[in-house]
Amino acid sequence: MEPIRTTTREERQSLLEAAGYNLFAVPAEAILIDLLTDSGTAAMSTAQWAAVMRGDESYAGSPSFTRFRESVQAIFGFRHVIPTHQGRAAERILFTVMCKRGDVVPNNAHFDTTRANCEFAGAEAVDLPVPEAAQPALVHPFKGNMDVAGLERLIAEAGPARVPLVMLTITNNSGGGQPVSMENIRAVRAVCGKHGIPLYLDACRFAENAHFIRLREPGYANRPARQIAREMFSHADGCTMSAKKDGMANIGGFLCTNDDALAQQEKNLLILTEGFPTYGGLSGRDLEAIAVGLNEALEEDYLNYRIASTAYLGNHIARAGVPIVQPPGGHAIYIDARAFLPHLPIEQFPGVALAIELYLEGGIRSCEIGTLMLGRHAKMDLVRLAIPRRVYTQSHIDYVVEIILGVFAHREGIRGVELTYEAPFLRHFTARFRRLEAP
Ligand code: F0G
Repeated sequence: MEPIRTTTREERQSLLEAAGYNLFAVPAEAILIDLLTDSGTAAMSTAQWAAVMRGDESYAGSPSFTRFRESVQAIFGFRHVIPTHQGRAAERILFTVMCKRGDVVPNNAHFDTTRANCEFAGAEAVDLPVPEAAQPALVHPFKGNMDVAGLERLIAEAGPARVPLVMLTITNNSGGGQPVSMENIRAVRAVCGKHGIPLYLDACRFAENAHFIRLREPGYANRPARQIAREMFSHADGCTMSAKKDGMANIGGFLCTNDDALAQQEKNLLILTEGFPTYGGLSGRDLEAIAVGLNEALEEDYLNYRIASTAYLGNHIARAGVPIVQPPGGHAIYIDARAFLPHLPIEQFPGVALAIELYLEGGIRSCEIGTLMLGRHAKMDLVRLAIPRRVYTQSHIDYVVEIILGVFAHREGIRGVELTYEAPFLRHFTARFRRLEAP
């Protein structure tokens, strides 16, 4: 339980000015409802806190690591489990070991850190979403799917030798939190198999993806999410994971593979920057929290509530005319800022402008996923309202609905922004802006 603090509009205005209009630079105490991310923001359960108490902090061979590995293997099924401090550390190690300059890595949609780590290793990160993914208002059960024909074409053009791995991000975070179907995973696997290319899953929200398969894919209606997850991973050669999402933990991640030689190289790199392979930059206490959290994320009651409560927010604002990515995603609702603010040209960052307005109006923090975050790769300008796991109640969400509808009512007056500072990569974290004159 934490107190939340209210602020006045004037206070929020001066906090924004001091932050260069970047919500990452606003102190969390000045946020009323924080929907910046669902990453590391979950409320841990009593069972997780109890497990934390038996964390064993031995440098090597800790029993906490054994419990962590057993828990991961029971769900993911891979031979090697390499702990890391979070998802991006797993990505960096994977791409460093598998990619070289001139390589191409296809994905349904790379998340920002995945793209950055891939490019940092010298490879080109290519997004191959299905065409339906680029139409926010279109309802389709599996908008996270990869364009399989596009994958075939890319491999034919680049040559299989230049494609060291194919990735699938479940659920697709940059494109609306939309799931990938089992059929699509199988089809991508078949293409990879034909060319001898390994398939990796970016598994951050694997439990939500499994739940959507259960709800929407023929043949899966009565299967437990755990069993569906096992089947998803059985088609892959390995995965990267941020335990800050469906691991229900506040920190942590891991890298899995079935390849012994690769695992050896990965562990060597791990030792260089993360730590010994039985802790990988995490404390024994963190490993315990993840071991329990992964199982909690697969519980049916939890998943039913999680998916229903995200849809509750989406459906309430959509019914009032607010344009969102349809259907509602697993971990977040994404407002289509280009449709919300049609008077703003893309160069004026409609997603950033809307996120600023939501904070100003009601102290709500959201996150742009669009031209600022993805640069020239952005096909949409979205404002993500990510829902932390097990944190907010329906009355918090009703307040969020009220604020969004208030902003929607005066949308014509919302001003665009101009960049005054940007870093060479992952610029959204530290960018600064100036607000432009009223349109
Ligand atoms: N892959 C996906 C699909 C992600 O959403 C994230 C993180 C990562 C990889 C990297 O994991 O943060 O543990 O290093 N997404 C967070 C978000 C930051 O807000 O969506 P990490």
